[in-house]
Amino acid sequence: MENSEKVNNLVFSGVQPTGNLHLGNYLGAIKNWIELQSSNNCIFCIVDLHALTTSDSRTQILQNTREVAAAYIASGINPKNTIIFVQSNVTGHSELAWILSCHTPIGWLNRMTQFKDKAGKNKERAPLGLYSYPVLMAADILLYKSTHVPVGDDQKQHLELSRDIAQAFNRYYQNDFFPIPEPIITGNATRVMSLRDGLKKMSKSDPSDQSRINLSDNSIEIEKKIQKAKTDSHPFPEHFQDLDGRPEIKNLINIFSALNNESVDKIISNYVDKDFKIFKKDLSDLLVEKISLISSEMKKLLKNEDYLDSILKDGNLRANEMANENLTKLKNIIGLFKS
Ligand code: AMP
Ligand code: TRP
Repeated sequence: MENSEKVNNLVFSGVQPTGNLHLGNYLGAIKNWIELQSSNNCIFCIVDLHALTTSDSRTQILQNTREVAAAYIASGINPKNTIIFVQSNVTGHSELAWILSCHTPIGWLNRMTQFKDKAGKNKERAPLGLYSYPVLMAADILLYKSTHVPVGDDQKQHLELSRDIAQAFNRYYQNDFFPIPEPIITGNATRVMSLRDGLKKMSKSDPSDQSRINLSDNSIEIEKKIQKAKTDSHPFPEHFQDLDGRPEIKNLINIFSALNNESVDKIISNYVDKDFKIFKKDLSDLLVEKISLISSEMKKLLKNEDYLDSILKDGNLRANEMANENLTKLKNIIGLFKS
């Protein structure tokens, strides 16, 4: 993507307001958004309708919505240029989701691994919304005719589906109506793993708070979590290839690399003869430097609800305007009655 002046790209992404925002959300998604906003038109959504899909994520949505807004701003998203808004406040998302669902074969949804993971054994009792979740996600993206979507690795399959749905719609109605959105899954931390188990994704819903660095953690909490982070009994690796079969170490080095914008090879060569404790100490210093700044800024912002709400109100208005314009054109193409 170009860097000079704002180009005709429309970057769109979102986070669910489900509490416990963590380092994975920051490194896999939000950090990349900050870099994108200087040279692109960007829209960052708080996807509260998605949070309705499971009973765990349905609680405290209002408070969590403000928390995500605060995290966006504290991480460096500038609400003057970039639109920050709440999904449920732009009705076009649900409307377009319905229209797109009529162009989405059930077979495509049956392939979605996230549904299988989240629905668990009892699929018959899973809510319909959990199943059709990826269609709503496609609607989020396509409603604004977005061209690029920066996300973590876990959203790859959903983005593929969004592209398929856009193509299906274009084929049926008008070939160039939707741009086909490009995923942006970049950096060394597209999949940050749990600090307790290097084979599990760092996640908001992990019952162990020790498994993740929360964006709300203070410096003491961060230091403790890194000190206790699982490692193994082998010395610091000598080569990148040595990381195979050492998922916890690989994860910590990837986190270091993403935070410091340094290559994994460089980090390995810096620490190869040193004790793990030194690496962990430097990693926790780095995290404290980056994350506790965000955490303290979030706390300040969360005390000022009026300010946060005014940002969201402004974003909702701007998003609604764009959404309505595109939806009107889309309904026209379909041939729906307009009074
Ligand atoms: P969610 O919390 O599921 O709404 O995710 C918001 C964003 O964070 C999405 O772009 C995810 O892909 C990204 N994300 C979530 N967990 C991780 C993780 N462990 N590593 C990297 N990215 C993540
Ligand atoms: N499904 C995404 C997640 O769980 C969140 C999301 C919803 C999203 N709509 C989106 C991300 C549109 C990017 C674009 O992380």
